[in-house]
Amino acid sequence: FDAVDIIAAKRDKHTLSNEQIDWVIDAYTRGVVAEEQMSALAMAIFLNGMERPEIARMAQAMIATGETLSYEGLATPDGTPLPTADKHSTGGVGDKITLPLGPLVASFGVAVPQLSGRGLGHTGGTLDKLEAIPGWRAELSDAQMRTQLSEVGAIVAAAGANLVPADKKLYALRDVTSTVDCVPLIATSIMSKKIAEGTSALVLDVKVGSGAFMKTQEKARELARTMVDLGKDAGVHTVALLTDMSTPLGLTVGNALEVRESLEVLDGAGPGDVVDLTVALATEMLAGAGITGVDVAANLTNGKAMDVWRRMIAAQGGDPDAPLPVAAHREVVYAQADGVLVELDALKVGVASWRLGAGRARKEDPVQAAAGIELHAKPGDAVRRGAPLMTLHADTSERFARALEALDGAAVIAPAGARAARESIVLE
Ligand code: URA
Repeated sequence: FDAVDIIAAKRDKHTLSNEQIDWVIDAYTRGVVAEEQMSALAMAIFLNGMERPEIARMAQAMIATGETLSYEGLATPDGTPLPTADKHSTGGVGDKITLPLGPLVASFGVAVPQLSGRGLGHTGGTLDKLEAIPGWRAELSDAQMRTQLSEVGAIVAAAGANLVPADKKLYALRDVTSTVDCVPLIATSIMSKKIAEGTSALVLDVKVGSGAFMKTQEKARELARTMVDLGKDAGVHTVALLTDMSTPLGLTVGNALEVRESLEVLDGAGPGDVVDLTVALATEMLAGAGITGVDVAANLTNGKAMDVWRRMIAAQGGDPDAPLPVAAHREVVYAQADGVLVELDALKVGVASWRLGAGRARKEDPVQAAAGIELHAKPGDAVRRGAPLMTLHADTSERFARALEALDGAAVIAPAGARAARESIVLE
């Protein structure tokens, strides 16, 4: 095969053959197909799309570039079989759901083998959030993962270097060639990793709105359908929810701030949208693992999910009782009018939090654990002129100016009686 012929075929809107797909993915991962060739192919795919069979083959070819994990035969130390279920979110602002969700699902006897990533751009990453906890580490060997799943029931770990190496290269390439938000490329990227991870059941949280890759419900539905098909083809029980990402989830954005809010949820409190989404996703994960008819929310109030959380954090070196980092500087943003907050734009808040230091501009940059934004009002809330709308947190005060610029127009206040567009967190 020749990379140039394959690029030309996709450029001219032809369907790639199985053999062409297998070869180009493998050869790119081995460094035989050059970065500039793969970037041309990614752009051709971005512009001309892929058929379902091409997408399925690409996911398989990506999985084949690395190792696959399996939790066949997983059981508790006393021999009770443990089914597995995982969740994947397509990414958003304030999306800390994995933190309460894994322990909640595990508290019902279903193991959650969550492999997560770090944030890039305006979206946060679960590993960055957990790293705000003193001592916690994301790196676990395959054997440590299996032991912790058996003994505790939940892990959150960094994917090893050998889990879909094709995606590691391709994702970094897409990030710098403006080829990220493309259904075939997102679907194969996410599903190759989730299938290789070895979970038996999977729930996809496909985000819709300004803070998501998919801005419309129609596009999000297409992505969800594509990923569900890929999961089912691979024998993974897969379902998807479309959920709102027009405004941040919960009342906090930023690593330590989001850990704090997750602890509130695990303690039976926390913002309604975070609790509702956590329970909705947990219900689907449990159903995928064959458990129905249980009171899912009860384990958030009776301490069972919190107990798993504490053991999960401690098993990965973290101190669940250690104080979380607090930022050195704060800046309050005030409401400019009386009325109802009808919009609080997720993307703008995400970019502002990123500029405060919660996110990174390049993969190798560190994040500041304490940086971020606390919201004092959400769409639908009545606000008064001069009341605090949000508090920005940063380690160095010169970060505030650029964050405030990003927030320009983020909050829209309408006269009393107006209603916010969002009705519920789960859209479909
Ligand atoms: N998350 C991924 O893992 N891959 C994508 O392409 C987009 C979001």
